[in-house]
Amino acid sequence: MTKGPPFKSYIQDIRPYEPGKPVKELQREYGIRHVIKLASNENPLGPSGKAIRAMRRAIRDVHLYPEGNCYYLLHRLARELGVDPETLVFGNGSNEIIELLGRGFLSEGDEALSSETAFLVYPILTQVCGAKYRAAPMKDHRFDLPAILAAITPRTKIIFIANPNNPTGTYVTAKEVEDFLAKVPENVVVCFDEAYVDFVDAEDFPKILPIVTAGRKNVILLRTFSKAYGLAGLRIGYGLASKEMVTYLNKIRQPFNVNSLAQAAATAALDDTFFRWRTKWLVVRGRQFFYRKLARLGLEYLPSQANFILVNMKTDGKEVYNFLLRQGMIVRPMGAYKMPEWIRVTIGRRSQNVQLIRLLKAYLSQKAV
Ligand SMILES: Cc1ncc(COP(=O)(O)O)c(C=O)c1O
Repeated sequence: MTKGPPFKSYIQDIRPYEPGKPVKELQREYGIRHVIKLASNENPLGPSGKAIRAMRRAIRDVHLYPEGNCYYLLHRLARELGVDPETLVFGNGSNEIIELLGRGFLSEGDEALSSETAFLVYPILTQVCGAKYRAAPMKDHRFDLPAILAAITPRTKIIFIANPNNPTGTYVTAKEVEDFLAKVPENVVVCFDEAYVDFVDAEDFPKILPIVTAGRKNVILLRTFSKAYGLAGLRIGYGLASKEMVTYLNKIRQPFNVNSLAQAAATAALDDTFFRWRTKWLVVRGRQFFYRKLARLGLEYLPSQANFILVNMKTDGKEVYNFLLRQGMIVRPMGAYKMPEWIRVTIGRRSQNVQLIRLLKAYLSQKAV
């Protein structure tokens, strides 16, 4: 018999999620004062002023436990979306809802299904539950829904569809989703992860919300306050699903999973339509800026519906990443996503975008010598 704690081998085998490098870490390591982080798809405008003021008010009550069911936020969001409050569940980031889905629906021997080059939390969570993660191939860097349908087995319990997807920024269309949902078995949970939906401008992007409210029992829609609302550090996101599924997921979550500052800030941020409009405008303009400049540098990129762009550096992306780090610019290398020549860049403020293009140009010219 082995000595020591009964570690589970499938958990020990997990390769931990590597987050984008924190600004303060780079400042510590390189002694650089001015750092730009375009690595974690955060909001370059910061949090909304309304959210900050709401947190200032709420801070006086942090000696009290938060409302376990996010009462005010729940009703405000339900009004915003035009849905029944009983169809909403909140999480410590939408990441927590992904985790609740795993704990609720995956056991050892089960399978979760997604696509290659999808959000890395899906395989990690699946492995934590002792289940098997399977990834259908992509087509032109897009989720291939027919390939996902073909990969379903009797053991498949959950399908994760990130739309738009991280890290590719690509999306599946309304027609593709309609065909997919017509064929997917009703005993498989389909999770549409819309973390980046606020940045979408494609007209054929699917509307999942009315599909859920129309009573589709096996579909859950995830959204977050981390991106367009600028509240990533507070950790708050939500799921929209049938009352039955929401009741089920609420049984799994911790009673106070969403802290009181996050609840107050998110409720106030919903009222800040101007902030959200500014954020979207910045991202849409930023995408166009990058498309123009990257094309001029002769770099391939994937047109994106999100607040980031994947760029093919046609060389070791880690080397580019390290070069940029030394100049105080943090982007995301894509080795963990098995795209070692690509880097992912978050759309920043105009001056940050200009600086990144300047540095990429400098990298390419020093490489050419
Ligand atoms: C596709 C996708 N889903 C979910 C999340 C999680 O967001 P959060 O937990 O901050 O709500 C992210 C974060 O980067 C993401 O890219």
